[in-house]
Amino acid sequence: MRPKITAVILAAGRGERAGKGLPKQFVSVLGSPLFIYSVKAFLSAGVVDEIIVLVPRGWVVYSEKELKRLRGNKPVKVFTGGHRRQDSVYKGLLHISEDMEYVVIHDAVRPLVTPGLIVRTVEGALTCGACVPVVMPPDTVKEVGRGVIKRTIPRERIGLTQTPQAFSCKILRKVYQKGPPRRPVTDDAQLIEVIGKRIKAIPGERMNFKVTWREDFCVLEAHLKRSTRF
Ligand code: C5P
Repeated sequence: MRPKITAVILAAGRGERAGKGLPKQFVSVLGSPLFIYSVKAFLSAGVVDEIIVLVPRGWVVYSEKELKRLRGNKPVKVFTGGHRRQDSVYKGLLHISEDMEYVVIHDAVRPLVTPGLIVRTVEGALTCGACVPVVMPPDTVKEVGRGVIKRTIPRERIGLTQTPQAFSCKILRKVYQKGPPRRPVTDDAQLIEVIGKRIKAIPGERMNFKVTWREDFCVLEAHLKRSTRF
């Protein structure tokens, strides 16, 4: 029997860099708030047994109302996240049903995640315990400091990680057992790296970008308009 898998969708950030006046994950894109696209992808992927969405304080009722419009046969639960990304992940872990064996963590601000990428990431974690999608940088990569180029880093050694990132619950609970880390953490894989656990890297998808800046919304809308998936 397939192990039980939960998705934790992180939508509790402040999203200030997008300059939209409200957290970017709630900005309406072609009639739906941004975070809904990620939830839809997870519902269509069909590999998770429950979905937990973390949102900022004050956004739970709104998010639940938006989620009710979706068709899907998996429970989607909404909770308040924390101050930093890792605080939200920690809170998500507290709400995972006891019988779950794997967890897939996803940044809600990557709305173009495909069901295929979710499935491949989960499959990687089932074989290796931890799996992360990676894209190679097309540009020449430099180390820069104080406005000056220091050196060139061979780009074939660089990978830009994306979410979804999938882990066995046992491994992820281990790195979060003492609570959220104090140091800044931008993904969960980095917590697993430091304990020496192998993490499988699979090809990410270039359109699975993180909506960060105002102009990212233009790219997103253009892509959604010509896509048949949504
Ligand atoms: O800030 P950043 O773009 O790195 O956030 C990545 C994801 O983590 C976003 O989807 C954001 O909503 C989420 N996040 C969160 N709780 C926080 C900070 C970020 O769920 N306190």
